[in-house]
Amino acid sequence: MYRIAPSILSANFAKLGEEITNVLDSGADIIHFDVMDNHYVPNLTIGPLVCEAIRPLTKATIDVHLMVEPVDRIVPDFAKAGADIISFHPEASNHIDRTIGLIKEQGCKAGLVFNPATPLSYLDHVLDKLDLVLIMSVNPGFGGQKFIPEALNKLTEVRKRIDASGKDILLEIDGGVKADNIAEIARAGADTFVAGSAIYGAGKDSDPHRYDTIIAAM
Ligand code: DX5
Ligand code: ZN
Repeated sequence: MYRIAPSILSANFAKLGEEITNVLDSGADIIHFDVMDNHYVPNLTIGPLVCEAIRPLTKATIDVHLMVEPVDRIVPDFAKAGADIISFHPEASNHIDRTIGLIKEQGCKAGLVFNPATPLSYLDHVLDKLDLVLIMSVNPGFGGQKFIPEALNKLTEVRKRIDASGKDILLEIDGGVKADNIAEIARAGADTFVAGSAIYGAGKDSDPHRYDTIIAAM
């Protein structure tokens, strides 16, 4: 099953609740929540307080993408704030297996994120413990960047590993996903597609038609 995860990074933050309700009404059942710390990535966004504020709006999955370093001490705060999935970058954790365990102990699903230049060998000893693998098709830090095509090979490789594991693990892609490349990305093996600027135009309010357009292109 294919799912679009609208990234609220490109939403109009002055009316975030409405912006989220719009995409949920269009059929979205995952909200991608980008957390940046001006340390691991050169940008600063939203934290647990905002997650807590949007939690009562929906039962949809809140998919928290942590671009923060260190990771562990913020995990319980996001779990308490109602996150369903918490993903982190291996470079931002001193002990990847421990961080995965911590996320699961807190009752959340755990995801590991791969930057364009991060090797897939980080999956070698932990794949079975993961609920999600997130392949970055841009360098993390900003919405509205261009899709890096090398991510397609990575998706295909991870799809093979997930299928071989026999586990139910989501394969998510993040960065530069648009109506004109989503079908190719799906063919490469992704099943969950983060879309920020393709759904929420920068500075403009979300338009349900943008969600429909991207779904139709699948
Ligand atoms: C980038 C973020 C993305 C971002 C994607 O670091 O992780 O989730 O919102 O935005 P678009 O879809 O505009 O590339
Ligand atoms: Zn993201």
